[in-house]
Amino acid sequence: MGYSNLSFPKDSLFLVTGGAGFIGSNLCEAILNMGCRVRCLDDLSTGKQANIDLFIHYPNYEFLKGDIKDLDTCMEACKGADYVLHQAAWGSVPRSIEMPLFYAHNNMIGTMNMLEAARQNGVKRFVYASSSSVYGDEPKLPKAEGREGNLLSPYAVSKHVNEECAKQYTRHYGLETIGLRYFNVFGRRQDPNGAYAAVIPKFIKQLMHNEVPTINGDGQQSRDFTYIENVIEANLKACLAPAEASGQAYNIAYGGREYLLDIYYGLTKALGVSVEPHFGPDRPGDIKHSNADISKARRLLGYDPDWDFQRGIQAAIAWYQENL
Ligand SMILES: NC(=O)c1ccc[n+]([C@@H]2O[C@H](COP(=O)([O-])OP(=O)(O)OC[C@H]3O[C@@H](n4cnc5c(N)ncnc54)[C@H](O)[C@@H]3O)[C@@H](O)[C@H]2O)c1
Repeated sequence: MGYSNLSFPKDSLFLVTGGAGFIGSNLCEAILNMGCRVRCLDDLSTGKQANIDLFIHYPNYEFLKGDIKDLDTCMEACKGADYVLHQAAWGSVPRSIEMPLFYAHNNMIGTMNMLEAARQNGVKRFVYASSSSVYGDEPKLPKAEGREGNLLSPYAVSKHVNEECAKQYTRHYGLETIGLRYFNVFGRRQDPNGAYAAVIPKFIKQLMHNEVPTINGDGQQSRDFTYIENVIEANLKACLAPAEASGQAYNIAYGGREYLLDIYYGLTKALGVSVEPHFGPDRPGDIKHSNADISKARRLLGYDPDWDFQRGIQAAIAWYQENL
């Protein structure tokens, strides 16, 4: 269970792209806690300087400010790296519909640059963030690898293309790539601000400030909300999984199903407030329900998540209460 018993040689160097962001900064922290070395590459486009300042005094931590759209930067970042945990990308389905060309450059070309740089630098394992959005409009639940529908946004296209390119790098060049299809991750340091913020931190912040949150749609949509600790476990186990696990992508979730309205009222209760939400229109590119079959990751990566939604949401609320 979890990742506390995993071990890497102490001089292992992990390159975390997007390490100033929510998931990346949590990966950096976990790696430092294991006593290994981290190099963080980030252009601070959506990431935060504060997530660098947390670790910059650690001797095992190095920050490289740079853009994955630039191949030379990726080459520099991959020098000497044993493992790459590639998280850098722009998220948000609706924003990708507003700026498709940027998503193609940033998420697709950026990832191609990282794959090429990892290959040329002899990286042992290239683990990268994919997304549940690759399931598109496939209605069958739970979502299982190999059963994908029509893609619904430029963001989903970028993640699908990432997976296809990574497979080619495994097939033709022997770079061991593992894609992790994250399902609605939440937890400490996820940004609650801005028009494209994820729903859990946004609601927590609004409720803490006595603002009225807006629910897009009727609130009956469901998601497999996944606590950050499970995502850290998946990344580290993907680094250690047997070579046969590479060249593929895996669902990374808890395997549960939470309804948005239930989450909303759970948060009001936990925060001791009584505010009714506004209901707004559905968001384009959104699907009604999503939950994951995680048996492939269990079988081939040894993934065994031990943070269920309730345990995770309590930890997240406690963190925002202390830090907002
Ligand atoms: N959070 C989720 O629920 C979720 C779900 C599915 C997939 N993902 C994927 O996980 C990864 C991390 O997501 P997150 O939630 O931590 O987002 P985030 O925005 O907090 O972090 C992304 C980081 O990447 C950096 N970045 C973006 N473009 C870059 C570029 N061109 N060069 C260098 N750095 C760049 C940003 O500055 C930021 O620090 C992303 O690939 C995202 O698509 C996240």
